Amino acid sequence: MTQSDKIAPQKPHDESLFSISESIVVVDFGSQYSLLIARRIRELKVYCEVIPYNASFDEVMKLNPKGFILSGGPASVYETGAPLISEEILHSGIPILGICYGMQALAHQLGGEVEPGEIREYGHADLRRTDDEMALFRDLPHSTPVWMSHGDRVSKIPPGFKVRAVTDASPTAVMSNDSGVIGLQFHPEVAHTPMGKKLLENFLFEVCNCEGDWTPQNFVDSSIEAIRAQVGTGRVVCALSGGVDSSVAATLIHKAIGSQQTCIFVNNGLLRKDEAEEVLLTYKQNAQLNVRDVDAAELFFGALTNVTEPEEKRKIIGEKFINIFEAEADLIGDVDFLAQGTTYPDVIESRGPENTTSAVIKSHHNVGGLPEKMELDLVEPLRYLFKDEVREVGITLGLPPAMVWRQPFPGPGLAVRIIGEVTSEKVRILQSADAIVTEEIENAGLTREVWQSFAVLSGDLTVGVQGDFRTYGHLIAIRAVASEDAMTADWVRLPYEVLERMSGRIVNEVNEVNRVVYDITSKPPGTIEWE
Ligand code: XMP
Repeated sequence: MTQSDKIAPQKPHDESLFSISESIVVVDFGSQYSLLIARRIRELKVYCEVIPYNASFDEVMKLNPKGFILSGGPASVYETGAPLISEEILHSGIPILGICYGMQALAHQLGGEVEPGEIREYGHADLRRTDDEMALFRDLPHSTPVWMSHGDRVSKIPPGFKVRAVTDASPTAVMSNDSGVIGLQFHPEVAHTPMGKKLLENFLFEVCNCEGDWTPQNFVDSSIEAIRAQVGTGRVVCALSGGVDSSVAATLIHKAIGSQQTCIFVNNGLLRKDEAEEVLLTYKQNAQLNVRDVDAAELFFGALTNVTEPEEKRKIIGEKFINIFEAEADLIGDVDFLAQGTTYPDVIESRGPENTTSAVIKSHHNVGGLPEKMELDLVEPLRYLFKDEVREVGITLGLPPAMVWRQPFPGPGLAVRIIGEVTSEKVRILQSADAIVTEEIENAGLTREVWQSFAVLSGDLTVGVQGDFRTYGHLIAIRAVASEDAMTADWVRLPYEVLERMSGRIVNEVNEVNRVVYDITSKPPGTIEWE
């Protein structure tokens, strides 16, 4: 096995991580919503994984699927080379729910017909049932709004199927046969289909007879066993960043193997105000983790002297981190495993050839580079969890809410929020302004609603007047964004009073700053961080 195989497996679930008694498998035909479907299913307490449409059936069956969901996708079934449902899945006798392209593939492969629609149907439509008996519709109204996004449509349903619902533009909006094979032309997974979640719930519990045993406690119990089996009597090192993913991973591993794990926390001097002290205290008090705390601020500032180019800053910080981490691991001696807080979106993003060719917008530094260099096996207990599930596991493990609900913080820390050269003086100014932003967001009760909120030191000096004196001081920008996954983001419409308090406090309490602006750029075209 090569290192890259370890990092980005092409096969579905690795059974050694935790046991799965039942699951729903999303067969991915390239829809932008495949992960969203998986999230919806897991919210309903059924384990769900997304697999490529051409994954091996043997691997898929290891997930103990009680149902398949065929995703949408950009192709047309009548094009040559269009992705198809594997014959084994199609004839497995296990219930299938085809969504959009998934329904068209069902129709095409089971003897029906699909053709380009005369009218493309995008956005809202009213779904009217033509059959009130169907289990999928249990407790749903006769007519309900749904969200459509398709050009092709099913023009002839396959033998043995019946039309169960229509919209004005889709004479076959829902079809099914008596063996639990169902097609939906609309998207139940998106928020614009208000009854979509109920419909998915009916599929899980009325059609597939799922038990619904995917709970944080079950995950914790089964992961502890799996970690013990993987690590045996080996020694694990874990890079703790203070973020929720690495904290939860380390705590879970600690529950499994206790003192066989040593955590390394590197203070690079680029953390938020008082963050290093607070984080260390939390680790020691709440999780009894065995933490080596390395104060390397001076080393990092030295390496960043005169560096202004953003990518170079990231590279230097990443390399320094690896050097320090390796030296610490050497001191521990005989290390066999490296623990990482990799999560499911990281796994999916690194899967498939299309991702290896996509442009690098910013080189993200977590502990990338470490596994290859150190030749350690990875322990990644969270690699099949979504962020909200990681948080629930954190709460189940007894971590305090303040840690579990921390906003994401970039690996290179405040260095990517200081435009131009990073110095300890600039870090101090930014920390003070940033602490005010954080406090005011907290006072307004907005911490959980906002994906990230922080201050940026713009690197510009502007003229101001304070008392009778002309000042020439720093410009601070406030950034607050809403996002689901950091891939896209919108600036938050913070109440004027909150902005007013932030600005007033920053110019009064941070002497070096005389001007504050609010960043009103979404992503794209901006990014969340300024560098
Ligand atoms: P951007 O600025 O690319 O950020 O819109 C997207 C998300 O990623 C975080 N971020 C990083 N996280 N190492 C990290 O671990 C990094 O180098 C890094 N750069 C950005 C950023 O805070 C946001 O949540």
